[in-house]
Amino acid sequence: MSEQFGFPPGFLWGAATASYQIEGSPLADGAGPSIWHRFSHTPRNTMNGDTGDVACDHYYRYASDVALMKELGLQGYRMSIAWPRVFPEGKGRINQAGLDFYSRLIDTVLENGIAPNVTLYHWDLPAALDDLGGWLNPDIASWFGDYASTMFDKLADRVPRWSTLNEPFIVSDLGYLLGILAPGHRNLYEVPRVSHNLLRAHATGVQAFRARNAAKSQIGLAVSLEPRYEASDSEEDRAATRRMDAYSNRQFLDPVLLGSYPEELREIFGEAWVEPHAADMKLIAEPIDFVGVNYYSRSVIRYDATRPPFFADRVPQSGSQQTDMGWEIFPQGLTDTLTWINSRYGDIPVYITESGSAWPDPPIAINGRIEDPLRIEYLINHLKAAHDAIQQGVNLRGYYAWSLLDNFEWAFGYSKRFGIVHVDYDTQKRTIKDSGRFYSKVIKTNGASLG
Ligand code: FCB
Repeated sequence: MSEQFGFPPGFLWGAATASYQIEGSPLADGAGPSIWHRFSHTPRNTMNGDTGDVACDHYYRYASDVALMKELGLQGYRMSIAWPRVFPEGKGRINQAGLDFYSRLIDTVLENGIAPNVTLYHWDLPAALDDLGGWLNPDIASWFGDYASTMFDKLADRVPRWSTLNEPFIVSDLGYLLGILAPGHRNLYEVPRVSHNLLRAHATGVQAFRARNAAKSQIGLAVSLEPRYEASDSEEDRAATRRMDAYSNRQFLDPVLLGSYPEELREIFGEAWVEPHAADMKLIAEPIDFVGVNYYSRSVIRYDATRPPFFADRVPQSGSQQTDMGWEIFPQGLTDTLTWINSRYGDIPVYITESGSAWPDPPIAINGRIEDPLRIEYLINHLKAAHDAIQQGVNLRGYYAWSLLDNFEWAFGYSKRFGIVHVDYDTQKRTIKDSGRFYSKVIKTNGASLG
């Protein structure tokens, strides 16, 4: 076995999930409905009308799922908290049973020697807050701050890593512009307002965390990053690529890490743009401890005069391979993304908080195995790409495979499988896929088995 792909000592190997995607029983023990409960129960929003009502039944099976994590040798587990389990109305009254569930889950994770990385918001906003305008209401920053403070008071010293929000860009773009994810709005005028309130909420959470002085824990933000490459070196293609990069990659990181929005946003939003207050920008730039990167694919951009600037044409790449999501496989994009963070934002610690691929897995073989060579290949190539970035000086601290379990893939329902562990949705039986076994070996050798 070569040492070529050994990772730095202390590199954290984990897997990730999110509450609504795996827990099931979203209304159990006094929890309130989330916007995802509402959205998935509304006709035509999800494939086959799938909902998170049962999902992986993790709410009741968490102990055996944690045992599975241990069997895989995971060192870290990225999970999220469903805000409406803790605050059924989003604010005010606390639901003790919801708080207790997460307290028990985190204790179980810790007892198994696994370090939790807890995301406070992975898209399941309390429906009661959506009734008050949700992310459009500026008060959401203080609602989120109160919720975050409650979680820090209860759990902060047991949780070494916190993330405030998961993929704020996807929340504002797919939730408020394209209408594909909850709450399903299609309104350009809402987008800059939602983005700004997401950032204000994030910062209020960071402030609450610092006020608790949980010195042994860290806090960060998990963003989706999709590098954009120009289709040609024409000035039009380059400008369109810059705009897409500003909109999807820099819209959230620039304010947090540099203190200002990218210039291009004014051009992209036109009259919909809202000039931010200086005091907000100061708050948003509250320092964080790490950046979480969710990386899946890239896109190649060609200027198209018939499209709005936030919707530049993606040029299909001939000869490229795509996952079951239709996303081009492009490991080099991960190296490029990580080195870009380093050159634009400096030497901040980075975790890959999500990386993975969906494939239509074969049925369980007679010998009990699930062979998923394409997922293994994806994993190998992306881990090598991450290793390249470390060699180029990126301060990369860990990798969380998306996902531990096959789960509810939002608008795609149960039709897309990302898990390194297979879930039979009829019986809830878990089976470790070949990719899970492969990943286990990578963890055991700290990456050396890759090469
Ligand atoms: C990301 C989400 C995650 C999962 C993957 C495939 O955008 O954060 O919940 O759905 O995509």
